[in-house]
Amino acid sequence: MIDEPVTDPSDARATPGAYVIAIDGPAGSGKSTVARTVAARLELAYLDTGAMYRGVAFAALRRGIDPADQEPVARLAARVELSVEEGVVTVDGVDASIEVRGPEVTRAVSSVAANPDVRSELVARQRRWVAERGGGVVEGRDIGTVVFPLARLKVFLTASHEARSDRRAKEVTDLSYDTVAADIARRDHADSTRVSDPLQAAADAVVIDTTGLAIDEVVAAVLGHLDGLSPPGSAP
Ligand code: DC
Repeated sequence: MIDEPVTDPSDARATPGAYVIAIDGPAGSGKSTVARTVAARLELAYLDTGAMYRGVAFAALRRGIDPADQEPVARLAARVELSVEEGVVTVDGVDASIEVRGPEVTRAVSSVAANPDVRSELVARQRRWVAERGGGVVEGRDIGTVVFPLARLKVFLTASHEARSDRRAKEVTDLSYDTVAADIARRDHADSTRVSDPLQAAADAVVIDTTGLAIDEVVAAVLGHLDGLSPPGSAP
């Protein structure tokens, strides 16, 4: 059964031949750096799915659409041209790499990510992206639970609220620690309590608490869990 050809890349069951490493976790858990580094080490493509949700939020703000207004945002998500490659986020031909990380988009993105129609559109795009590349390291909130339930390895990164706030405050130098910590608490709550695909670890995910760990140590732990599993290019 696992050797069946991929016929519909938007179907989760169509990905068994793809070598997917799913990395999920809350904001500031170290997901992006770890996922990027693991992808480089394994020579796999890397996809930041949070940047896709941010891209839709950016497109909504740019058109004056209220990010919480479900129907127009869903319609927008279905037609927006979105590309996330090597850290460059392009939305309808505009390089939005800086704006998608800004406070306006960060405030708006939780309601966009809670929109079930936006989620199903972006999940389909994520599956297509991976099918076209034959695999990849994919980071987000629902990658192991919803997008790639058949991923070769599922990792769920956690860290204390203080450690995560500390990391984000160092990245976003123009905001105070307290502002960043409050934003992380707000987004944690929104991401974990939303009805559509809330943030949670897959039952078969490897959970790594990154509090007090250096990036290299987390990467080594992830790669350690891959040892003994079959290498890229082979069937799962
Ligand atoms: O990882 P990030 O902070 O860039 O994610 C931005 C938002 O998108 C955040 O509120 C969580 C949401 N998100 C999601 O719901 N599902 C994903 N697969 C990735 C991100």
